[in-house]
Amino acid sequence: MRSKIVAGNWKMNKTLEEAKTLTSELIGMITDEVKGNVKVVLCTPFPYLHPVKQQVGNQARISVGAQNCSEHDWGAYTGETSAAMLKSMDIPYVIVGHSERRQYFGENGVLLAKKVDKVLAQGLTPIFCCGEPLEIREKGTHEQVVTDQVKKSLFHLSAEALQKVVIAYEPVWAIGTGKTATAQQAQEMHAVIRKHLSAKYGQTIANEITILYGGSVNAANAKELFANPDVDGGLVGGASLKSREFVEIIKAIG
Ligand code: 13P
Repeated sequence: MRSKIVAGNWKMNKTLEEAKTLTSELIGMITDEVKGNVKVVLCTPFPYLHPVKQQVGNQARISVGAQNCSEHDWGAYTGETSAAMLKSMDIPYVIVGHSERRQYFGENGVLLAKKVDKVLAQGLTPIFCCGEPLEIREKGTHEQVVTDQVKKSLFHLSAEALQKVVIAYEPVWAIGTGKTATAQQAQEMHAVIRKHLSAKYGQTIANEITILYGGSVNAANAKELFANPDVDGGLVGGASLKSREFVEIIKAIG
């Protein structure tokens, strides 16, 4: 049985005080209302990782994650944060290759393969993002493009290493636009990704990989998206900034 995960990607939002308020609301609601074995990951801005982690304490269901890391371990890379640093803070998850990093910071498949390696080398879990922009969807080459993204950054991994990766399919046209992929579009792409994982690593391993959907997930559409057999949870942006909405999304996983 693969893990079910709902991760909130806070992106570059909230003051420290707001982050603390959101976290304490989430802890309360999740403790009271969330059943089953869904895991919740709060991917906060770097400065809030430590305080949010302190607040979460030893709540088994909730983990804290970073939104990026360097492809280097240590050294003269001003402004960067390494997977080794995150490991030293006991931060178990790291988003790698979010489309905003690809788009605004020029991150490409080769660089992302290095980041994935660094995260895995520290024993942390990468949440590797893939997804096509609108023009690719309109051209109809999205399967090819997304498969290439996965192959470029993950297919150098051993089967053992791959099993530690979480994949997030986030069509760029659905991010922050309010335009969600339909449940069918999400399922189709998740199945395509799993098919390619299966071709390279075998069906048993492919069936073990958690694949999240991201892109305008909200309390109203989460249930339908998560009901798909190949959708194992969500990577949630805007809706993860509001405690009630995010908790309803977590509960939608059933
Ligand atoms: P939204 O949920 O705001 O569309 O963002 C999705 C996303 O980019 C999560 O990583």
